[in-house]
Amino acid sequence: MTDGARSKGGGERRGWRAATQEALYGPDGFYRRPEGPAGHFRTSVHASPLFAHAIARLLCRVDEALGRPRTLDFVDLGAGHGELVGGVLAALPADVAARARGYAVELAGRPDGLDERITWLSEPPREITGLLFANEWLDNVPVDVAEVDPAGVPRLVLVAADGTEALGEPVSGAEADWLARWWPLPAEEGLRAEIGLPRDLAWAAAVDRVARGLAVAVDYAHTADARPPFGTLTGFREGRETAPAPDGSCDITAHVALDACAAACTSADTARTPSGTARTAPDHARTPPGTACALPAARLLTQRAALHTLELTGARPPLALASKDPSAYVRALASTGEAAELTASGGLGDFGWLLQPVGIADPLP
Ligand SMILES: C[S@@+](CC[C@H](N)C(=O)[O-])C[C@H]1O[C@@H](n2cnc3c(N)ncnc32)[C@H](O)[C@@H]1O
Repeated sequence: MTDGARSKGGGERRGWRAATQEALYGPDGFYRRPEGPAGHFRTSVHASPLFAHAIARLLCRVDEALGRPRTLDFVDLGAGHGELVGGVLAALPADVAARARGYAVELAGRPDGLDERITWLSEPPREITGLLFANEWLDNVPVDVAEVDPAGVPRLVLVAADGTEALGEPVSGAEADWLARWWPLPAEEGLRAEIGLPRDLAWAAAVDRVARGLAVAVDYAHTADARPPFGTLTGFREGRETAPAPDGSCDITAHVALDACAAACTSADTARTPSGTARTAPDHARTPPGTACALPAARLLTQRAALHTLELTGARPPLALASKDPSAYVRALASTGEAAELTASGGLGDFGWLLQPVGIADPLP
């Protein structure tokens, strides 16, 4: 422990990862509250039903690539109140819907009145054949934060429940290796980075549950060519961005180093075991070099590009429709606005999509 281990107010300081874990998912954690994520911020899922329709089309492509299996899984990881699963099941054509199984994977409890067809789980099913989809999940997997001290050394940032910080020990071990590989910090006092190793491991463990199909993570993201110099850790409360304080009163989130997650399933450290058994982050034994069954390379693209491929373009309806069928024209215009929000530059359209096929060809070429 360093001098910074206790704050002035007497509260214990811990690394951001442990503090966030308790603040979000502890017994009184932010995500245990009844209002759910939609009570505090708007994701693509809440922005428009068009998003669920596009994901349903993606599930149909996965179904085709799998050769129309007897049962087809749709697994929403970090499902909030299960809104996306309900929307996807409702948007499927009848022949696919008859074979589809919908799973909401969530640490919070099942909301009252949820569609009975949706299975509510606290971790993904063991052998998924279909689509595993994680919208804004990885940014809520807690991470530690490093900051460069006056001597140019990256140290762990410690935080008290009120959000006040102090520097702790130098970053070492696997976390130092991760920084060196994915987010090297120049020796300039005050530069910061979020150490994404727990997210890489969590993603690899999730992908390991897919026997055949596609895993997709969608999130605020950055890649090695453009890391933010001071990191992105922030809070959200009742729709507004706020200073992050790990006291359970707000969401705590940081953008995702999605390129590191993409590499996690094809690196010897985090790849699936030869038996295909699930490996849970982060305390698993390492796969001995040479025994990992590497998956095909993952692919990164923007939400804008992904949704365009899934036939969500935001094109305006033809003007002729206005005189032929005015109410259809008004409905089509509203859809255009929603599609524009889902694909907007500087907004949801810039989100990163990480596609990891497992045993099938990439269904979004
Ligand atoms: C930002 S919300 C996104 C909710 C929803 N996917 C959406 O896009 O509206 C993140 C959700 O992930 C859940 N979550 C975080 N870690 C999880 C885990 N390991 N297993 C299941 N759910 C998790 C949280 O409880 C929270 O509901």
